[in-house]
Amino acid sequence: MTTSFKTPLLGSQDDTDFDSVYEPAEDSFLLLDMLEKDHAFLTSIDPGLCLEVGCGSGICITFLAQILSNTATFFCTDINPKAVEMTRATALKNGQTVEPVLCNLTDALEQRLKGKVDVLLFNPPYVVTPSQEVASSGIEASWAGGIKGREVTDKFLPKVASLLSPKGAFYLVVIKENDPDDIGRLMKGYGLVMTCLGSRRAGREFLSTLRFTRQNYSGGS
Ligand SMILES: C[S@@+](CC[C@H](N)C(=O)[O-])C[C@H]1O[C@@H](n2cnc3c(N)ncnc32)[C@H](O)[C@@H]1O
Repeated sequence: MTTSFKTPLLGSQDDTDFDSVYEPAEDSFLLLDMLEKDHAFLTSIDPGLCLEVGCGSGICITFLAQILSNTATFFCTDINPKAVEMTRATALKNGQTVEPVLCNLTDALEQRLKGKVDVLLFNPPYVVTPSQEVASSGIEASWAGGIKGREVTDKFLPKVASLLSPKGAFYLVVIKENDPDDIGRLMKGYGLVMTCLGSRRAGREFLSTLRFTRQNYSGGS
């Protein structure tokens, strides 16, 4: 059976809000589509705790809360204070309960959430840029990925296995230049298996959504 979930309304006041917060684009919508496609698997996990890193407008974590009927606890983080603000408004506008936290990656939550995250999302800044452009907390943080577009992603990947619960799944958006096969090899070293859920060309970008689960997890589809 094909289900179709509504795209969340955004908590922005007007278009100028997107001068400082990432406006949902093809990468965001690919992640939404892949979460929808993976709905049966997500439901089979019966998630208790979900976390998004880099929530931006809040569209992805709010969508996840919607498709899981808000039965879990939903946390998210962003390094950009305006994104945290907009995420709060987006969740509210769609009647969902989401806890946005201002921090770098998962720094403020790691100790508390270790081994407990059932669904983890990251649509990172993946564009290849000079390294100097990485590490702002403004709008540039939405896209600036440094060398191979991997500098922010590579800081996060070593944390994933310790955050995930035994049945947990991690969804990551990448482009071809990020070298998804190399990410797969790296994550295998942490005991996680990669599945490419879907890819899409958007202008010059070839986007994919990858899902990682534990090698020894046999549940789900
Ligand atoms: C490509 S945008 C994705 C936004 C939203 N998730 C979406 O799909 O529309 C990347 C987001 O990651 C945030 N970000 C970048 N570096 C970060 C870091 N070190 N810690 C937390 N968030 C970060 C940016 O501020 C931005 O909101």
